[in-house]
Amino acid sequence: MLRSKSENCCISYARRPEITARIIDGKAIAEKVRAEVAIGVSKFSAEHGFPPGLTVVLVGDDAPSAVYVRGKEKASTEAGFKGQVIHLVDSTPEAEVLATVQRLNADDTVHGILVQLPLPGHIDSDLITSAISPAKDVDGLHPVSLGMLLAGSPGFIPATPLGIQRILVEEGVELSGAHVVICGRGSLVGRPLSVLLSQRGSGANATVTLCHTGTRDLAEITRQGDVLVAAMGKAEAITGDMIKPGAVVIDAGTSRVDDPTRKRGYRLSGDVAFAEAVEVASAITPVPGGVGPLTIAMLLQNSLKAAIRALEAA
Ligand code: GUN
Repeated sequence: MLRSKSENCCISYARRPEITARIIDGKAIAEKVRAEVAIGVSKFSAEHGFPPGLTVVLVGDDAPSAVYVRGKEKASTEAGFKGQVIHLVDSTPEAEVLATVQRLNADDTVHGILVQLPLPGHIDSDLITSAISPAKDVDGLHPVSLGMLLAGSPGFIPATPLGIQRILVEEGVELSGAHVVICGRGSLVGRPLSVLLSQRGSGANATVTLCHTGTRDLAEITRQGDVLVAAMGKAEAITGDMIKPGAVVIDAGTSRVDDPTRKRGYRLSGDVAFAEAVEVASAITPVPGGVGPLTIAMLLQNSLKAAIRALEAA
């Protein structure tokens, strides 16, 4: 059962009236989180006489990564962080990226470090991610952070899964006992989200099915999801017939699809065929403007947490 936000009543998935889905406003939810974080940042800065610091490392010229990093820098500065981007050229040797991370680990003015992925092919992403101090791992991708999440005592939770959970909570979706079907087992979204939503506690306690490229008859499983999360990185892979009527659909995909009718030559597409899905789901996140803004907001939330913890530990 899905609790309707506006009417505070329950809609049966099976006997749902024919309506089009509510479009979830990720930007508005992210604004709320960012405003909460900005209050915390201002309190932190007043107490300590310096702002919390977040440094993002970008290696190379991947165009979508550059856009994401600009967004992170802008949002962190707006929230009052000492935001910094270190942009290294594509050919930077692995050892130099490692040395950059180690220098940031030792810098007391930097409380959070994020190395934007993907990294150029000659750099081992796992090596770099593992080199970040777990105390500054605001991306939540260090093996210690992931292990703590698995152990049920989370340190830093990866921003996109945390953002998806926040969307579901803000939208009043009852997760306890719900069947959440996640498509995609990537380390940034699908895998950590499966752990996050299946743990005990509020905003979780769901029955989670994690689908991947080895899943047989994907549609048969996706149609069972009260909540369906698409995180496959494959444009419009989830079609309307794969969605349970009345399901809540969360689209964590962003792909650039060639589109000669657009001035820039491409459009952004999610992993869900939106026009079809909107006729079947009860609520759905758009692309852009759904999950993406929450990823940035939750990164800021993690970064404030890192700064507070660092000062408590000092
Ligand atoms: N690239 C796309 N999403 C992310 C993210 O959440 N963290 C990092 N480090 N890189 C990304």
